[in-house]
Amino acid sequence: MTTARHAVAVSVNGRRHERLVEGRRLLVDFLRHDLGLHGTHVGCEQGVCGACTVLLDGDAVKSCLMLAAQADGHAITTVEGLAGRGDLHAVQQAFREAHALQCGYCTPGFLLAAVALAEQDAALEGDALRAELAGNLCRCTGYQNIVEAVERYLKQAAGGRG
Ligand code: FES
Ligand code: FES
Repeated sequence: MTTARHAVAVSVNGRRHERLVEGRRLLVDFLRHDLGLHGTHVGCEQGVCGACTVLLDGDAVKSCLMLAAQADGHAITTVEGLAGRGDLHAVQQAFREAHALQCGYCTPGFLLAAVALAEQDAALEGDALRAELAGNLCRCTGYQNIVEAVERYLKQAAGGRG
């Protein structure tokens, strides 16, 4: 028996990719295994931990909850797409300055969640910001520094627009 495959054309970090995928192929597996972008991590595989967060047309989505076929025609940003040539993205710089990572497993998800938040509400801080980040978990429990880093980045993003 042959398994039906679907044509998927996506832009990932500004580069177009076309593949045939099984209907059950998860977006996170497509990114990691078909495109070799291992910066998107897999944690819970049920939408709880946020390790697999990527941007889909600028919105943060959990790529373990999406099928690759659903991303057809959309633009995806993974952590590999954040830094320029030799330059850290501002959110990466903020995490570096605030010492906001330990093992780093959760970090790509937090970075992309922060980038999406900067587009939605760069004035977020304190408890409101913590609530917005509740969909991303850190097993090393370094939340204080992570929140500080995201606050730092959001202030910078807001300033850049003002
Ligand atoms: S692996 Fe997707 S939310 Fe945990
Ligand atoms: S830094 Fe280790 S899981 Fe967050």
